[in-house]
Amino acid sequence: MTTTSSRVHVALAGNSYDIHIGHDLFTATADDLYVLLAEKQVVIITDANIAPLHLQATEKALAEFARQTVSIILPAGEASKSFGTYEQLVNDILGLPIDRQTVLVALGGGVIGDLAGFAAASLLRGLDFIQIPTSLLAQVDSSVGGKTGINTAEGKNLVGAFHQPRLVLAEISMLASLPARELKAGYAEVVKYGLLGDAEFFEWLEVNGRGVISGDTDVQAEVVRRSCQIKADIVAADEYEAGQRALLNLGHTFAHAFEAVAGYDGRLLHGEAVSAGLVCAFAFSQQLGLCSGQDVMRVTAHLQNMEMPAQHDQLAAGQAEPQVLIEQMRKDKKTRQGKLTFILARQIGEAFVAGDIDEAELNRFLETL
Ligand SMILES: NC(=O)c1ccc[n+]([C@@H]2O[C@H](COP(=O)([O-])OP(=O)(O)OC[C@H]3O[C@@H](n4cnc5c(N)ncnc54)[C@H](O)[C@@H]3O)[C@@H](O)[C@H]2O)c1
Ligand SMILES: [Zn+2]
Repeated sequence: MTTTSSRVHVALAGNSYDIHIGHDLFTATADDLYVLLAEKQVVIITDANIAPLHLQATEKALAEFARQTVSIILPAGEASKSFGTYEQLVNDILGLPIDRQTVLVALGGGVIGDLAGFAAASLLRGLDFIQIPTSLLAQVDSSVGGKTGINTAEGKNLVGAFHQPRLVLAEISMLASLPARELKAGYAEVVKYGLLGDAEFFEWLEVNGRGVISGDTDVQAEVVRRSCQIKADIVAADEYEAGQRALLNLGHTFAHAFEAVAGYDGRLLHGEAVSAGLVCAFAFSQQLGLCSGQDVMRVTAHLQNMEMPAQHDQLAAGQAEPQVLIEQMRKDKKTRQGKLTFILARQIGEAFVAGDIDEAELNRFLETL
């Protein structure tokens, strides 16, 4: 087990913060926690799967610093990112003796992070919050960058706010209890970072990636550190997604369509859809004459080697006719002036935003899936 921890700084105009990655972080970051929590009311928000595993230790650690800690346990699953759960959560928090100095702590995966983050963004016009991400997806992606929000009947993440955390603690030991399927789903976002901007990282993953799934905590810590560094650099350059932050959506136009068709009922995890979506983004780029077939093969081979879905037809849920998928892509609010926007690639490590995709070309591509 690694004893050291590493730190990634997210440099933003008015609200910079640190991501700490490693083991025993409550001890390693005691100074930061003291500054953020001393004399304050702390509300820990978590889900029913994580509570029996990690809540007690978190409560005990934070109680060393805070005036008082209270915990709220929500049902696990994407369905909690809803108006109903949000309303319940903010009412429960408002029922406590909180004030503008109260700090919320999101202890969980991306669902808890997005929901608790949105509660923090909106309660009393903005409370401080700390992310303690417990899933790989949350450690490498959702806990960093300040996007918070909930889903509506119209689609995912359509109500939300940019609200940066004050601190992120990615405690690697918490990944030990994460189910293997969730670990692989989170790994899809890791692969995404290599593919969109860092060919050398992708090469490193081709050699070391299996260590993430087999539970090698050194490899896991390195993967989280490098992923957070890439995301932090992109977010620092474009906090509100006016341009290059959109690169983080590599594979996601396809993935969101597969997820919408599957119906968000847990049969298809986001990361599984992203895995197949990444191959689609490269294969579509090849069809458009942008990248080589060899790159498509490398992406496919690595995901297959990780036993992740690399083809649309490997997704039991989420398969559909081209027209149905295109219909879903149109509803994705990331369309610009009604035009379909894709993140495409010239090669591994070199993605770009393609704003004006010809629908006939897309249809022809989807026919090949
Ligand atoms: N804000 C962003 O920038 C951003 C980026 C990517 C994804 N997201 C959002 O993240 C969400 C998906 O996140 P997720 O994959 O973490 O889902 P999740 O929060 O539902 O967690 C996945 C499952 O693993 C369980 N779990 C989490 N940590 C565990 C642990 N340490 N031990 C045992 N079980 C554990 C959870 O209870 C849940 O059942 C989606 O809603 C997505 O929209 C947000
Ligand atoms: Zn994603």
